[in-house]
Amino acid sequence: MESYKPVMSFDEERARKDVDFRRGDEPEAVEFLAGIAGGGPALELGIGTGRIALPLAERGIRVDGVDLSTAMLEQLRARPGGERLSVTVGDLADVAVPGAYRLIYVVFNTFFNLLTQDDQVRCFRNVASHLTEDGVFVMETYTPAFLYRLRNDQYVDAESIQVDEVRIDVLRHDAATQVIEENHVSLSLEGIRLNPVVQRYAWPSELDLMAQIAGLRLKERCAGWTREPFNSASDTHVSMYGR
Ligand SMILES: C[S@@+](CC[C@H](N)C(=O)[O-])C[C@H]1O[C@@H](n2cnc3c(N)ncnc32)[C@H](O)[C@@H]1O
Repeated sequence: MESYKPVMSFDEERARKDVDFRRGDEPEAVEFLAGIAGGGPALELGIGTGRIALPLAERGIRVDGVDLSTAMLEQLRARPGGERLSVTVGDLADVAVPGAYRLIYVVFNTFFNLLTQDDQVRCFRNVASHLTEDGVFVMETYTPAFLYRLRNDQYVDAESIQVDEVRIDVLRHDAATQVIEENHVSLSLEGIRLNPVVQRYAWPSELDLMAQIAGLRLKERCAGWTREPFNSASDTHVSMYGR
């Protein structure tokens, strides 16, 4: 997608709306991450407006964050408790923060916002260098099983059809680069709104190899935050890496 930038989909208006966004997995995710963080500290890569980081910090754990979008971070800082979090504007591949963490985590498919294998490996390496000896890197993302449902490497999906608004999801896949280009399109009397997303997906096996390159290994993998078993039918996974 020509001229695409990761922050594009997180402009000021989107960032304002993100404050109220809930996926519904927040209580389970926070419980899971708090269990691993122990006394902390924890670092979230792509922290956004703090959907997970704020309730995790409410548990008494120090949570720091990294995000590329100043609009998202402004909204985070304005939220109750947001001013107590230490956040760094930067690329999650760089993990440009001082110190070591008991828990580093990246959720909601955000790892796939790194669009090349090189950047994804770089992220693993930098995470490894910021983990305490017993530290854990937790990643929550989808498996690319949706690929099996594509025809001609693309789809158009009618997400919502209402009297005053139609929402369409348009996606194209490039098998050579493992990049998907997607745009959520809203058509209404107020006009056309676009929400572009570009991601480089990886199968869990490729992620495990990246971890090995970074001196980490897979400690546990489950299908979700309540530790459902991961198997060939799973379309999401929570993977935990350590030394
Ligand atoms: C899908 S949102 C998830 C936000 C939050 N983690 C959550 O679960 O609600 C992805 C976030 O990652 C940030 N992001 C995307 N690419 C990034 C990159 N390369 N480096 C740092 N942050 C990035 C975006 O600005 C956005 O805040």
